[in-house]
Amino acid sequence: MRPKHVPGQLLTLVALLMLGCAVGADKREVPSSQRWTSRAIPEARGEVKEIEGKRVQIRYRHEPFSTFTVNYEQWPTYAYSDNRVFSQPARVAMPDLKGDPARGRQLFMARNKAPCTGCHLIPGDDVWPAGSVGPDLSVIGDRRLPDRYLFELIWDPRLFFPNTSMPPWGPAGILSAEEVVHIVAFLQTLKGNPPFVPPPEKDPTRNPHTRPTILPYYGDNLDPATNPAVVFADNALSVWSAKGPAGKACADCHPGGPEKAMKGVATKYPKYLSAYRRIMSIGDLLTVHTPETTGREMLAESADNLNMTMLIKMQSNGMPVNVDITSPEAAAAYERGRAVYFKRVGQRNHACADCHEADRGAGRYAGARLLSPVREGLTKHFPLWFNAYLGVWDIRKRFQVCMLPLGMNYLPADAPEYADLELYLTAFDNGKPMSVPGIR
Ligand code: HEC
Ligand code: HEC
Ligand code: HEC
Repeated sequence: MRPKHVPGQLLTLVALLMLGCAVGADKREVPSSQRWTSRAIPEARGEVKEIEGKRVQIRYRHEPFSTFTVNYEQWPTYAYSDNRVFSQPARVAMPDLKGDPARGRQLFMARNKAPCTGCHLIPGDDVWPAGSVGPDLSVIGDRRLPDRYLFELIWDPRLFFPNTSMPPWGPAGILSAEEVVHIVAFLQTLKGNPPFVPPPEKDPTRNPHTRPTILPYYGDNLDPATNPAVVFADNALSVWSAKGPAGKACADCHPGGPEKAMKGVATKYPKYLSAYRRIMSIGDLLTVHTPETTGREMLAESADNLNMTMLIKMQSNGMPVNVDITSPEAAAAYERGRAVYFKRVGQRNHACADCHEADRGAGRYAGARLLSPVREGLTKHFPLWFNAYLGVWDIRKRFQVCMLPLGMNYLPADAPEYADLELYLTAFDNGKPMSVPGIR
């Protein structure tokens, strides 16, 4: 969908055209099986609406979603119908201006800009939390790199590193050419004494290259005294045996209680379901199966859906994940999911792979957060209790939030794109025991 040309966006569009059109399009057909009408609660659908003359994405009202109020619809998303791609890298003239190192340091640290410190270490007791996705820049000034090179590298690093995870700050509209000149002036002041030797560091935790990796400990995730989500899952027991408006309860068609009827079922999900011609998680299936059989709604991201999903998945705890990726439909979905995982999206042109692949960010720090490698398995404990936000989250909400701060509007929680992505990620967990609900 094209954005309405309100003045602010018009300006941005003009700016983008001047940069050689940041967002272009290529033409691919979306298979009809991949079109889906969302059956999620309104704030989980990702719809963009015009409210008081302003286009906004309708989002969850709680944190961290409420922190991001910008509508990012001008940037590419994961939608299979979205063929836009970020502009090709292009050079711009370096402004003829004397850079101010103090201003450059402020910009380097500015949280409302990059921040560069999220991925790079520089000296200073006020630098916290620094990350290590990119190289340590503590003594980059000793390398006597030309200003012009540093300018172009920061403006659009793809000029020199075609597959980099460092965003193209200029074309993304996050830094102006003048601001980059100040940052270059600052970087040129970063020198060791003697050369190439970073100043001694008093606090090893400040340095992401020496920081001890202490993982938070939450205790036994299946103990209701530790994990409130276990108690929430119990709420689904009454739904299981309550007759819906159509006169039937789950228990009527699935005898023996959830322990017997649902044992091992979740190890095979996400799974291709021919009735719906798409990959579905347990949560996706419940959005259509529950109204069809009981007459009751069970929208994606509703409490009922999350609780029932947990109740069903708990009947597979300890059993190995066993998703199919070899049948023709599953294999095709797995390939689409892999493409989503590596697709660059949003204002910052990031891919999931930038943070979760071992040869990119995974195993290193983004700010204070250690990035987990996809191959170790990111899926087998979802839905989980999210301590930071005091709520039950399924993996779709995790997908929705992982790209939002990076400048991409999210898709509906039950989108086929997310289902394919979930299948791709879950395949790394094949053979590993399920443990639902997790805690983070
Ligand atoms: C998401 C992580 C990330 C962020 C944020 C980031 N960078 Fe980088 N940066 C990298 C990576 C990774 C590299 C190494 C290039 C490569 O191989 O992809 C790099 C390389 C560099 C280099 C070249 C280093 C060298 O040794 O040649 C400079 C200079 C640099 N970044 C500056 C910046 C500045 C300035 C900012 C803020 C405007 C910034 N970076 C923000 C990830 C990041
Ligand atoms: C009118 C009968 C009926 C009712 C009511 C019903 N189901 Fe089903 N359900 C079925 C049938 C038939 C299947 C497909 C056959 C199968 O796989 O067991 C199925 C399949 C499922 C599956 C997938 C099983 C698998 O192995 O992939 C799940 C999960 C499920 N139902 C959950 C529920 C839940 C939860 C409820 C209540 C909200 C419910 N069902 C209500 C008849 C029913
Ligand atoms: C800029 C970095 C970044 C990008 C890009 C990113 N994530 Fe994350 N992701 C994180 C951080 C930070 C965490 C929390 C720490 C961790 O578990 O790795 C996280 C956590 C997760 C988790 C939960 C892991 C767990 O064990 O609970 C999943 C699943 C996940 N990300 C999937 C994705 C997917 C899929 C994408 C692409 C849609 C993506 N991420 C893109 C930074 C990122």
